[in-house]
Amino acid sequence: MGQPVFRIRKIDLRNSADVTVVNYLQKKILPEDRPYKPDHGHWWIAYAEDGKPVAFAGLVRSIRFSDAGYLCRAGVLDAFTGHGLQTKLIKARLAQAKKLGWNWVLTDTTDNPASANSLIKAGFRIYTPSEPWSFKHSIYWKYKIDQSGYKKRVKKKATAYA
Ligand SMILES: CC(C)(COP(=O)(O)OP(=O)(O)OC[C@H]1O[C@@H](n2cnc3c(N)ncnc32)[C@H](O)[C@@H]1OP(=O)(O)O)[C@@H](O)C(=O)NCCC(=O)NCCS
Repeated sequence: MGQPVFRIRKIDLRNSADVTVVNYLQKKILPEDRPYKPDHGHWWIAYAEDGKPVAFAGLVRSIRFSDAGYLCRAGVLDAFTGHGLQTKLIKARLAQAKKLGWNWVLTDTTDNPASANSLIKAGFRIYTPSEPWSFKHSIYWKYKIDQSGYKKRVKKKATAYA
């Protein structure tokens, strides 16, 4: 049997069916956590080959820094973990942050070695925020985005519209 293939799709928050799926996955995967409302930012759903939604992830703008994004929530259904889905969802969010021109992506983990390992693999570094926002033993992560091509891209777009 080959490796399972997943399809990851960025959703449109105006599509209530997609929002319902994100809410359903959050409740199923993180039943103890207060659901994060997918009413702003950027969200993705991952589907198994048979079309079943199996994972989700969200990226919002940081409330502290205008040039930073925050990986706000992600989850993979138990039966589909261990296939690199979280890693793929991190990469999708880093690509989106880069497209938006943000310089940093931040997040935190608490008692979550699997997530910590995925963040390390994606290139995140541990740091100490000046005002920690989570639990005392949470780990804070940041990723510096290479935006060297961003100004050029914006200028090219502006010229195209001129
Ligand atoms: C954490 C979670 C997102 C991981 O999803 P996943 O698709 O299995 O993750 P990946 O396969 O991309 O990567 C997980 C990495 O952690 C490693 N890992 C898995 N379990 C681990 C554990 N208990 N301790 C240490 N590392 C672990 C894996 O080996 C993998 O690393 P590798 O690719 O180098 O082998 C998933 O288990 C989940 O949804 N958990 C509940 C919700 C949650 O914690 N969400 C994140 C916070 S909002």
